[in-house]
Amino acid sequence: MNRLQSVSGAMEFPGTAHRYDGLAIFFHWAVFLLVAAAYAAIELKGFAGKGTPARSLAMAAHEWTGMLVFVLAVPRLLWRLVRGAPPAEPGPRWMQFAGDAMHWVLYLFIVAQPILGLLALNAGGHVLALPGLGIEIPALVGPDEALKNQIKEVHETIGTAFYLVIGLHAVAALFHHYMLGDNTLRRMWRR
Ligand code: HEM
Ligand code: HEM
Repeated sequence: MNRLQSVSGAMEFPGTAHRYDGLAIFFHWAVFLLVAAAYAAIELKGFAGKGTPARSLAMAAHEWTGMLVFVLAVPRLLWRLVRGAPPAEPGPRWMQFAGDAMHWVLYLFIVAQPILGLLALNAGGHVLALPGLGIEIPALVGPDEALKNQIKEVHETIGTAFYLVIGLHAVAALFHHYMLGDNTLRRMWRR
């Protein structure tokens, strides 16, 4: 296959250097919608009365949208490592560095946060099962109350902190689009 080695060491396909490819764009916005749904579900859970079906439904929706984030995050990350990313739009070096750093933090988040959620669930003595099918995701750890409390706290702290991190990332994208007038948002929007 005719590919070029980019400065970052990742492989780039000729002719696509300044835009994200269709798959990268699909992964980005699908993961965004799933993360938003996971957040919405856990917030809605807070409004439902204890022990109500609505509360269980909201929790299940949180767990499954969160797991789907992981299911897409792994191939997304692999695709990113193989295919590389277009070079940043022209701008100061600190801005390019900040953008890069932010992107790797976001990749870490979409892979690690679902695993922490699943660990917290398993340590709490619960196993995740596909609704209606009875197929269970094997528990990663056995019941352990102390471990559950620790992991749950980390999962919740990261969950809260990432409202801010994701918000900053989105504001940066809008700043590039509306204030700097460059291609940053457009190249992640469509081919
Ligand atoms: C990207 C995916 C995920 C995000 C962004 C996320 C975010 C959050 C947030 C914001 C909270 C509530 C924090 C608080 O109350 O202060 C939470 C709680 C929780 N999450 Fe996740 N989560 C994700 C995936 C998962 C997954 C995959 C599972 C399990 C399979 C899970 C299990 C839990 C549990 C057990 C709680 C505690 C709920 C409670 O006791 O009220 N999460 N998560
Ligand atoms: C859950 C929410 C989000 C996550 C986890 C996320 C994650 C990421 C990641 C990991 C990248 C780097 C892609 C790469 O180079 O391989 C990226 C790029 C990008 N994201 Fe997001 N994103 C989220 C939400 C948003 C939102 C709401 C917007 C717009 C308002 C946005 C706009 C962009 C843009 C424009 C890029 C390309 C940046 C560039 O080319 O330098 N993202 N995002």
